[in-house]
Amino acid sequence: MNIKLTQQLPKTHTQKILKKEAKDKDAVSLVVLVDDKKNILAESALADYAARIEQLIEVSHFNGKAGETVADYALAGDKKTTKQNPAQLLLVGVGNIDKLNETVLQKVAKTIYKSTQNRVASITVALGDALEEDQFGQFALNLLAATYRFDKYKSEQTTPVLTDIYLLADESLQATLDFTQSVFIGQNLTRDVANEPGNVCFPAYMAEQAQELAKAYSDVLKVTVLGEEEMTALGMDCFVAVAKGSAQEGKLVIMEYQGKSKFSAKAVTTKESSNSAKVSGGLKALTDKLPTKKSAKNAAKSSDDNAQTSNDDAPIVLVGKGVTFDSGGISIKPGAAMDEMKFDMGGSAAVLGTMKALCEARLPINVVGALACAENMPSGDATRPGDIVKAMNGKSVEILNTDAEGRLVLADTLCYVQRYQPKTIIDVATLTGACVIALGHVRSAVYSNDEDVLFALENASNQSGDLIWHMPMDDAYQSQLDSPIADMQNIGGRAAGSVTAACFLSRFVEDGQAWAHLDIAGTAWNSGSEKAATGRPVPLFMQYLKNCVDMA
Ligand code: BES
Ligand code: MN
Ligand code: ZN
Repeated sequence: MNIKLTQQLPKTHTQKILKKEAKDKDAVSLVVLVDDKKNILAESALADYAARIEQLIEVSHFNGKAGETVADYALAGDKKTTKQNPAQLLLVGVGNIDKLNETVLQKVAKTIYKSTQNRVASITVALGDALEEDQFGQFALNLLAATYRFDKYKSEQTTPVLTDIYLLADESLQATLDFTQSVFIGQNLTRDVANEPGNVCFPAYMAEQAQELAKAYSDVLKVTVLGEEEMTALGMDCFVAVAKGSAQEGKLVIMEYQGKSKFSAKAVTTKESSNSAKVSGGLKALTDKLPTKKSAKNAAKSSDDNAQTSNDDAPIVLVGKGVTFDSGGISIKPGAAMDEMKFDMGGSAAVLGTMKALCEARLPINVVGALACAENMPSGDATRPGDIVKAMNGKSVEILNTDAEGRLVLADTLCYVQRYQPKTIIDVATLTGACVIALGHVRSAVYSNDEDVLFALENASNQSGDLIWHMPMDDAYQSQLDSPIADMQNIGGRAAGSVTAACFLSRFVEDGQAWAHLDIAGTAWNSGSEKAATGRPVPLFMQYLKNCVDMA
């Protein structure tokens, strides 16, 4: 799908084309947004069409309710009109203009795509200055996202007629549109990978996807993959405890995006400086060392005198749960909707997609993505309820329920990534059914030990419309994880299930290390007849990372 800004109304067809009879491929539609007071958005740009629009509103009793549509196809029979204004008209209601939130923007964008995809080759959506920058970005992303299809397993694929979208809006929005397209490309990958069935998308498949990206963006992205043997050697027994029940090997996929030295303004002016290190070995990873006790913030201060390793270059780390299928293991799940547990790698898919979006947007920032990939299966090699294993940080865990597996792969991965001395770690996981009960499918849950990170994420949430909600993590919840026999158990009972899962993860983050956890169990995919990955929270992550760049 092509999407472009324009300052022109759709090109009117010449007499010639009209005489030849307009074909599908010539058809264009002018999309006009109307609010519930029947105000026409971008009215001044639409002067040529004003009479037709107003007539159409009147004869169709159009009310401007959000998502309401009416079309005027400018049929050839109506010669006079057609000669002057051969573009089709589509009116789309946006409701109350003061309540143009992410839900309405999504609804309007979806409606526009659905009403035109099989009718016209190109549309011009008249926006004028009706949308603020963030709203414009959300609208454009929703319009693009509406074009997404996952039909590779259907024996017949249909191609839409619509190929070009023009947004009639100010030129100053070009940068926002460019960024939005990068987000869209990343989000598409997230959806593609998450939609793959469990018999295709194994941990090794996730690793391949990452390696493909490293090939395509070799100037900025480096990927390394750890197998079960390497993880065992590192003491990551919680991770391996999940993976070992499956015939498919567990993989920890590490993706290093190094955009800071490549794309920052500073790097361009000081090209000779040793800042422009190659991707390999660029990021400071203390190989095979456990995280230092020193807090990341203190580390930043103490290394201020050392320009080359200043905290400026410290990466933000994104960790994704990548359980490619969650059967529950020996604590096997009931059958209903178990197929949806193919989406249990949605966190990893979101990290993967964000890395691709970053490569596209070329943000001047360092980001490490870690995909914690395993298949949770019952077998003779599987972990038993009651088994006790040690995590990489030496803490012992009594695994009471093998279905609480996400926190186990994440625990070791959190330990592992602290070797980067990250500015911030954000993990993202389809972690608990309890989160779906608490927040449904609208907002992802966010937990954090750091007010600044929380604030930044909440801002990014509001700007991107990819919504989150702050949940508590008081110490008082921690005792639900007490085990009579080990340092902790992996479940905390029915009460506050999403909270105790976050509490479990917090035990693998060193004091002083800024960290946030997103539970996307309710937002990573849609169930039922609409069963498909949503690509969330790629828009949130990209907004967050962009803001980090803008504030630096
Ligand atoms: N992947 C599931 C969580 C999940 C369930 C996500 C339903 C989306 C929809 C996770 O691994 C899991 O099974 N969690 C258990 C934890 C429990 C055993 C403490 C749950 O939520 O039931
Ligand atoms: Mn589970
Ligand atoms: Zn799971």
